Amino acid sequence: MNMVISGTGSAVPKLLVTNDDLGRLMDTSDAWIQSRTGIRNRRLAVEETTTGLAVGASLEALADAGIAAEDLDLILAATVTPDQFLPNLACEVQGALGASGAVAFDVNAACSGFLFALDTAALYLKNLCERTPDGADRTALVIGAETLSKIMDWNDRSTCVLFGDGAGAAVLRAQPSGSEKRGIRGMVQRTDGARGGVLSCRNRPVNHPYAKRQEPPAYVSMDGQEVYRFAVRTVPETIREAVDQAGFSMADIDLFLLHQANLRILESVAKRLKQPMEKFPVNLDEYGNTSAASVPILLDDVRKQGKIKEGSRIVLAGFGAGLTCGATVLVW
Ligand code: COA
Repeated sequence: MNMVISGTGSAVPKLLVTNDDLGRLMDTSDAWIQSRTGIRNRRLAVEETTTGLAVGASLEALADAGIAAEDLDLILAATVTPDQFLPNLACEVQGALGASGAVAFDVNAACSGFLFALDTAALYLKNLCERTPDGADRTALVIGAETLSKIMDWNDRSTCVLFGDGAGAAVLRAQPSGSEKRGIRGMVQRTDGARGGVLSCRNRPVNHPYAKRQEPPAYVSMDGQEVYRFAVRTVPETIREAVDQAGFSMADIDLFLLHQANLRILESVAKRLKQPMEKFPVNLDEYGNTSAASVPILLDDVRKQGKIKEGSRIVLAGFGAGLTCGATVLVW
């Protein structure tokens, strides 16, 4: 059974906000942001919504894969910033695409969300194929979409400068037969809920008539240095485990497509894995940290640049709130 990504797409808001733009709003500077993070620009939603961005990325991914929306069996959307509590983002996308045969639900694993959703989709499709052995391909649409700007405290320069809005999507096909050894070869997920407090955002408090409490609106709060330490230790471990599982050595991997949080984290992971930075494409300079959207946007960017060829060995890895971390190894 081969789990193959057969199409990718992405969509970002029109408004481009530079570090200098932010320097006119708050006490920050291009020099500080670039030297600490590598970020230069980010896109912020004004008219756009999480659903609209997700649909835009999905349409591109379906066209790229040559798949009709009606042929989808599953839609998984990874997000922490859906437009509404109900219905979920995946159902919104299903309705907009007319993907009437697809089951649709959301996955919330923050910046690891796309990785967790991709692996869940692979396992779901495998099970579907086993239960209904009619020889047909099974297909999932996996989306990472965020408008993080709405949960940022725009008075907190230590967090709001880091994040951006956008969406990415991938079509995953379960091909019961055919070319062997393609597709997903290893996947590892990790969760450390005991340390979740280092990167969090509270939901609405209870506000029924028996619990009259006045609480200020909540925004993302982060212990940046703790998150940094978690990332540089856990990401290389998780990648090593996934690469072992796939039966590859680190040198066999052509590209490491990592969650785009911070250039220094990428450099540190590269160093710990003893791999050159050329294998670690970067687009956080243009988009900032787009949480669940960052890995699929990067995957789509890198494909459009022609850097992925048939047979390319690729690691996708995400990390973030939870704390969570995930790595998937695939052969293109
Ligand atoms: N502009 C200017 N100064 C800023 C600033 C900003 N946007 N944000 C914070 N500062 C100041 C702080 O107030 C502090 O000032 P002080 O020394 O006078 O108290 C100083 O810069 C240093 O802050 P510090 O927190 O020590 O910086 P750092 O080197 O740890 O870098 C992060 C901060 C957030 C960039 C870094 O910790 C990081 O990248 N962590 C990982 C975060 C992440 O990726 N999260 C998402 C994971 S999915």
